[in-house]
Amino acid sequence: MGGDDGEHRLVVETGDGARIELVCRPGETLLAGLRRQGCRTVPVGCRSGGCGVCRVRVIAGAVVVARPMSATHVSAVARQQGHVLACCVQPDAGRFD
Ligand code: FES
Repeated sequence: MGGDDGEHRLVVETGDGARIELVCRPGETLLAGLRRQGCRTVPVGCRSGGCGVCRVRVIAGAVVVARPMSATHVSAVARQQGHVLACCVQPDAGRFD
């Protein structure tokens, strides 16, 4: 889902089941993109993958892991189902779905 100026459109599902569309800039984490667009429903904690409060599920769009995600917060199975820590992933600049 590529956009103008290298922006990427994604859809994520929050812990309460709400779906949020967002546009991420290259190099921006999902969490930073959500906050920049005024989303306050995804909690912000450590911003470094340590606390797990920013967990979301990617519904549409491709992401890459920019910072290690602890299996304590996102198991391998959950990862396969699209769950990520929003502070640890960025849009995949190489993918245009
Ligand atoms: S804010 Fe702590 S893991 Fe993302």
